[in-house]
Amino acid sequence: MTGTTTTATANVDTRELKAKVKAMYRDVALDPAGDFHFEMGRAMAERLGYAPGDLDRVPAEAIASFAGVGYYFDLAALIPGERVLDLGSGSGMDSFIAALHVGPTGEVVGVDMTDEQREKAERLRRRDGFGRVRFVPGYIEDVPCPDGAFDAVVSNGVINLAADKGRVFREAARALRPSGRLALADIVTEVQLPEGVVCNATLWAACIGGAMPQDDYRAAIEAAGFELLEIRDNPAYRFISDSARRASEKFGVKSISLLARKR
Ligand SMILES: C[S@@+](CC[C@H](N)C(=O)[O-])C[C@H]1O[C@@H](n2cnc3c(N)ncnc32)[C@H](O)[C@@H]1O
Repeated sequence: MTGTTTTATANVDTRELKAKVKAMYRDVALDPAGDFHFEMGRAMAERLGYAPGDLDRVPAEAIASFAGVGYYFDLAALIPGERVLDLGSGSGMDSFIAALHVGPTGEVVGVDMTDEQREKAERLRRRDGFGRVRFVPGYIEDVPCPDGAFDAVVSNGVINLAADKGRVFREAARALRPSGRLALADIVTEVQLPEGVVCNATLWAACIGGAMPQDDYRAAIEAAGFELLEIRDNPAYRFISDSARRASEKFGVKSISLLARKR
């Protein structure tokens, strides 16, 4: 988890990156009304496609710190009794929604590396009685779970933040049973980002600098042992700071949702 990772265009100091990402998402947990490059909260969730009826049934504080980038629960098509892994669960909104969909016989595990995000999610989980949800500390590159433990892996706005995306997709495949689904929303680019953007740890933590060209992202998913079933753009997602907007317009940085099945 430390050292330097070579990307197509740049050397990224992954230690600095992790620290920057943790600092940003600590603030997302503790002060969601603060100043961020990206939008958060209920209005955005509804615009992305979340059902108001689902949002009404999960903790409002988790929604306030929702920093996802798209909707994918229609693609995930979770059914009662399923076991779901949420990679980078943040303050827990998607994990709680997954719990609504899989019901009392299902199970949801959220993994996140930022203590303040997990602590907030855990406090809300206890308070609101989400008994079939667990939030565990860990890295999405090295998920603390046995092989084949889940029917579905979900993730929202997280994998772009990982320096080694191939490793994350291989972990997702390992965590899934045969034919298990990967359903996610994430940020990708239309062109390779220049080194100046990739090496900007603040833009990386804002979900821009780490974004991979869409074709490479698809290839990494397929190389990890998945069949890609569906992919779509999420035009309702937008960055809000000037620097993030400029970078996203210039390099075609955009949100996508996708569904893949473990081969
Ligand atoms: C953009 S937020 C999204 C959180 C949540 N999925 C949501 O929709 O609100 C990214 C989250 O991923 C976590 N994260 C980023 N990189 C990670 C990694 N390598 N391992 C574990 N968690 C990571 C951060 O701590 C943060 O909580």
